[in-house]
Amino acid sequence: MTHTVSLTRRWPAAVEAHLESLYDVSVDATDRPRTRDELAAALAGSDALCPTVTDRIDADLLSSAEVQTGIIASFGVGHEHIDLDAARARGIVVTNTPGVLTDCTADLTLALLLGAARRVGEGERELRGGNWAGWRPTHMMGTRVTGKTLGIVGLGRIGVAVARRARLGFGMRVLFHNPTPPPPERIADAGAEPCSTLDELLRRSDFVSLHCPATPDTHHLIDAERLAQMPAHAYLINTARGTVVDSDALATALRERRIRGAGLDVYEGEPEVPAGLLELDNVMLLPHLGSATQETRTAMGMRVAENLAAFFAGSEPPDRLV
Ligand code: DGY
Repeated sequence: MTHTVSLTRRWPAAVEAHLESLYDVSVDATDRPRTRDELAAALAGSDALCPTVTDRIDADLLSSAEVQTGIIASFGVGHEHIDLDAARARGIVVTNTPGVLTDCTADLTLALLLGAARRVGEGERELRGGNWAGWRPTHMMGTRVTGKTLGIVGLGRIGVAVARRARLGFGMRVLFHNPTPPPPERIADAGAEPCSTLDELLRRSDFVSLHCPATPDTHHLIDAERLAQMPAHAYLINTARGTVVDSDALATALRERRIRGAGLDVYEGEPEVPAGLLELDNVMLLPHLGSATQETRTAMGMRVAENLAAFFAGSEPPDRLV
């Protein structure tokens, strides 16, 4: 019997074709976030549900819905949109797609760091707006990146990849803070020095880059008090999750020039972006593009396919979370 697989969004064509060659796949051509009722219907009517970060699969949904789904195979590494305890209680396996998006997310982190420091967005807006008055010694001066100190909050896979790029590509000194000590080989790979507290890291860094997951412990980890620890010339980069930063406090710090700039790829309540940030020039804003390359999005989809194949074959999915 062919298994039924429900994709909540459009996926790269090669992955959809691969899945369609194996399963009875349902995909909504309109590519909009599914409503709660549609998610409940998908859980009730498919063997596998394949959501993304835009689908909230919470305890309510998992406990109330009539469930046929045996596996929730999420497209993405972050999994805060799924209540793992509720899935476990319901006997549903949950998987994600770690590893395959590390490099592209690290690349985009450096793009934001450089873009914020060198005022790339502002420069392009000026030029496209027909306001460029030509070269001059004091035009749009930014901040030198080479040789500066980068503080990494969360030394996981992506944190290490960012540290390596910053150190090897830009001669940066790299500090890190992690709630639990990472294995020595990971620290050596990153070439990073530990800070025993987050406040120490914030005080010592010219650039701070966030690479921690969204959990109750990291909710608004960077708030007004933490922003006040950063030097006035420092920049904050966030390619992790929007909830890690109190965006009102960040907008205030940027507006009042208590820090010099920021680069953000993620927001609390996406796709809404706080108006307080939209009106500022000293923050570079991207629409959650960390893993958005052809290669990586295809690899993420194929990783989901591997998890589904293992599950349906009765073996352990490689990226099982519960
Ligand atoms: C991830 O994989 O976590 C990306 O941010 C998309 O959800």
